[in-house]
Amino acid sequence: MATNWSPESWRNHEGRQMPHYPDAAGLAAAEVELSRQPPLVFAGEARNLKADLAKVANGEAFLLQGGDCAESFAEFHADNIRDTFRVILQMAVVLTYASKLPVVKVGRMAGQFAKPRSADTETIGGVELASYRGDIINDIAFTSESREPDPQRMLRAYHQATATLNLLRAFSNGGYATLDRVHQWTLDFMGRSPWSAKFEEMANRIDDALSFMRACGINADNVPQLNATNFYTSHEALLLPYEQALTRKDSTSGDFYSTSAHMLWIGDRTRFEGSAHVEYLRGIENPIGMKCGPSLEPDALIRMLDTLNPSREAGRITLITRYGYDKIEAGLPKLVRAVQREGHPVVWSCDPMHGNVIKAASGYKTRPFERILGEVRGFFAVHRAEGSFGGGIHVEMTGQNVTECTGGAIAVTDEGLADRYHTHCDPRINAAQSLELSFLLAEMLNDELKDRRAKAA
Ligand code: TRP
Ligand code: MN
Repeated sequence: MATNWSPESWRNHEGRQMPHYPDAAGLAAAEVELSRQPPLVFAGEARNLKADLAKVANGEAFLLQGGDCAESFAEFHADNIRDTFRVILQMAVVLTYASKLPVVKVGRMAGQFAKPRSADTETIGGVELASYRGDIINDIAFTSESREPDPQRMLRAYHQATATLNLLRAFSNGGYATLDRVHQWTLDFMGRSPWSAKFEEMANRIDDALSFMRACGINADNVPQLNATNFYTSHEALLLPYEQALTRKDSTSGDFYSTSAHMLWIGDRTRFEGSAHVEYLRGIENPIGMKCGPSLEPDALIRMLDTLNPSREAGRITLITRYGYDKIEAGLPKLVRAVQREGHPVVWSCDPMHGNVIKAASGYKTRPFERILGEVRGFFAVHRAEGSFGGGIHVEMTGQNVTECTGGAIAVTDEGLADRYHTHCDPRINAAQSLELSFLLAEMLNDELKDRRAKAA
């Protein structure tokens, strides 16, 4: 267990990117109320995820992490949760079928509300107000009341996360995710994508395999793995009063766990020496993700790894790299070499979203699909050259038919961005783009696996 640590020891460290609540008594009351709420997840589940991620670190499984940039109160609807979940299932089945590796599925869902911002305030038409920091903190509307941090929003976010997770658990284990239904996960509006046809073809082959096995006596009734899937949740551990209130001591091990999600990650802006966020994460036993961008030097990374994973446990740390399509091949190798030299076991995952944001001529923030793919290509190229395992992908996506990222087989154009641009924060790839990405990713992953097998032989 971490020494000199307690769930509130982060309060003695520098906490960036957190709101100042004008109503201190209201904040304290909300924290007390939150700390009385039941845990969202159970410590044993976090340990299962860690064991699954240890397999990824060893090159025996692949990590698929995806979901909204920011969940919102306004877009909270069972259909939205279902649609995102089923696109993740489609992506997972494509990756599993093509690579023959198990896929560890982790949603950016059921708690991904708080957002770091590049500036504390926003000015529109000469009026300066506090920046929007996510629905768990304030409201996106541009009025001074809306932008004031409200501690009761933490409770609303908690209850929304609870309902979301409840539905996800039902979908994962209640029959929706059974492989027998692989054909039914295709969304109606995807019909036009050439990748839908490819998915249908693959689904037919899976059906065939399942029918054959059924004739041999193997079916979803006697092999529960066919019937259900493990689906985990994750979010950025940004709003520490919320995280602290949901930190609980596990009665079986005596260790502290976050019970707000199975996995938490730390962003680029809060990961520095002396940071309150690092201090908090150091003491909980959950799997931890760390965003790594161009500003992170190898020495600083190794110091972070020594702090967050002193016992070098595989599955504890996932390094989520986010360089930009044109920077990854120059920037990533030095991190990989440092980690290999120090013998830290990590999962390497590719976030091809955050380094590839541009402003379109129309004024919308977007991410060209070609650049997203370019970063994934660069990621695998680096790991193949360095002999490490590129083992995961981290995407901002939605099951909705939005037009937020340009490109893809059913091309979203610059002019088309305005049609269905719904995100509360960063542009997400839509369902068709997500499916396309998973097929192209599966090809790259397979090349990597062939390479590894050839070297091992
Ligand atoms: N249980 C296995 C897994 O999660 C197989 C499986 C069942 C599956 N339903 C799935 C795989 C849906 C991908 C998508 O890997
Ligand atoms: Mn984002």
